[in-house]
Amino acid sequence: MKRVARKHAESDNDPWEILRACGQPGLFITATDTNIGKTTVTAALAGAFTRLGVKVGICKAVASGCPRHRLRGSATSGDDDELFSPDAAIAAKMAGLDPTDTELLKFLSPIRFAAPVSPHVAARLERRRPNWRRLAEAIDYWRRHCELLLVEGAGGWLVPLDDDLFTVADMAVILALPVVVVSTASLGTLNHSWLTVESIRSRQLPLAGLVANRVRQPPDLIAATNLVEMPRLMRTPLLAALPETTMGRKGEIPASLVEALTPFAEQWWKNNGGSSAGKPRSLSLSG
Ligand SMILES: Nc1ncnc2c1ncn2[C@@H]1O[C@H](COP(=O)(O)OP(=O)(O)O)[C@@H](O)[C@H]1O
Ligand SMILES: [Mg+2]
Repeated sequence: MKRVARKHAESDNDPWEILRACGQPGLFITATDTNIGKTTVTAALAGAFTRLGVKVGICKAVASGCPRHRLRGSATSGDDDELFSPDAAIAAKMAGLDPTDTELLKFLSPIRFAAPVSPHVAARLERRRPNWRRLAEAIDYWRRHCELLLVEGAGGWLVPLDDDLFTVADMAVILALPVVVVSTASLGTLNHSWLTVESIRSRQLPLAGLVANRVRQPPDLIAATNLVEMPRLMRTPLLAALPETTMGRKGEIPASLVEALTPFAEQWWKNNGGSSAGKPRSLSLSG
């Protein structure tokens, strides 16, 4: 799908002008809906790649529903740095990164809004626009400081990110990373997943595949058949089926989820990881 020519209200904050392709190995994690498991899958992937010795970077590109940063409790004006993205923190920990490092935070979650609504509405309520330069800086930082970048979207695939109708899909098109679609195996998933897959393909973006999350153990008839039908109908791999499990306190990711994504991570890194694929590396972020 070609970019629809749209005039951006602020010519000095036009994401089409400011953002660039990632230009390094990475994955863009989207989902069929909000609350489906993007953060969980991003974090489990971070754990799986980190275990392989890959230096993983995390970017929750645009986050809404962010609580106030505890170190900036006295601040009153709305500003990205006054807020904190729990999603970025969950995934960062699994990549061995320190989510309390305030310098790192602006690269882990460059654009943050407080209101727990779609980012474009949150931006409107908070009377400020997403600062696309912050995302560009984050991508640039990770290009220099990681071997593989995991970018978590916001909500589902066609969520608007600003009032000029720039969507998650548009952002993924510019970043040009293969897309992982997190879905479920429950009733309704064939429709939701297929719509998302078609919309990704219509933008000529590479689709890494689907992850079915929160699959009841043992799978009931619906889950068992959907796990077979999803890859067959959509002609895309089912990268993993993650079980419904007990999550750790503070969003810690159980080892079973990391293990379920490890075969995909191993295969993917072998095929896409560049010259360092398979060689254990130090996790230090310096240099
Ligand atoms: N496999 C799972 N088993 C149990 N709970 C899960 C699982 N995956 C996600 N959750 C829970 O579901 C909720 C939404 O998941 P999350 O990863 O935050 O979704 P999203 O990032 O798409 O909004 C969270 O409370 C999370 O702990
Ligand atoms: Mg999330």
